[in-house]
Amino acid sequence: MASEIVYLNGDYMPLEEARIPVLDRGFIFGDGVYEVVPAYSRHLFRLPQHLKRLQHSLDGIRLPNPHSDDEWTKLTQELVARNAGDDQSIYYQVTRGVAKRAHEFPLNVKPTVFMMSNPLVTPPRAQIDQGVACITATDFRWLKCDLKSVSLLGNCLLKQMAVDAGAAEVVMFRDGYLTEASASNVFIVRNGVLLAPPKNHLVLPGITYDVIIEIANANKIPLELREISEHEVRTAEEIWVTSSTKEVLGVTKLDDEPVGEGKPGPLFRRMHAHYQEFKQAVMRRAA
Ligand code: PDD
Repeated sequence: MASEIVYLNGDYMPLEEARIPVLDRGFIFGDGVYEVVPAYSRHLFRLPQHLKRLQHSLDGIRLPNPHSDDEWTKLTQELVARNAGDDQSIYYQVTRGVAKRAHEFPLNVKPTVFMMSNPLVTPPRAQIDQGVACITATDFRWLKCDLKSVSLLGNCLLKQMAVDAGAAEVVMFRDGYLTEASASNVFIVRNGVLLAPPKNHLVLPGITYDVIIEIANANKIPLELREISEHEVRTAEEIWVTSSTKEVLGVTKLDDEPVGEGKPGPLFRRMHAHYQEFKQAVMRRAA
């Protein structure tokens, strides 16, 4: 297969040829932000929303956006066109650039802009039908989880705890309340009502989270965005995780206890079907 083409600071090139200096602040300090945008049948899904969140992350670390939304769109479309595979996951990373190591921001340094494409692997049918196991942990990350920062050590440590336990994700609590999972947002169902934590500095404002809310509203599924206690999660009828790559997945085991009846619940099955329809409709409009 032809080698994967990436974009780095103005040029497209094979992945093996892409190089950055070791003094890049992304490498030295984790000083940068990122995005992950799915492309279905080569159509970018919710790109304007992802670019808006990228701007929010850049503003949050006081890094001027190196590109306008139009430029990002053209760069991304070109990257998708140059890579094989109809369904792709596009990764963007912007760092504060290359400078002598010092914590404070360097002056007059150009940001590093990197983009790559990976095959978009959505969950296999068996996972959709049977659900996934999750464990729980204390959310020990920092207090700016709304920024999609490349400083992901906390998330990596948490995700590895899940992998070590044979689970798909870690559902996290901070001060007794649900935040999110290590690489996804979390929804629960109680008494037939869909619940999710509100958007604030403790969670990433998921693009999929917004899609789920739009679908819930359009289909008159009762929904409340509010703080959710650990007890409410542990006694929920259903638990879901959502992300651009997982879409929506049912959690059927939490810390070895079955969730609800131990299989994906009725509201999950409804939402999953709506999500697939929503995606198809968006793609048809884009085609
Ligand atoms: N992660 N919360 C966290 C901590 C995440 O890392 C992600 C996604 C989400 C869901 O956001 P969205 O619906 O916009 O994908 C929530 C991406 C996929 C990643 O890091 O690879």
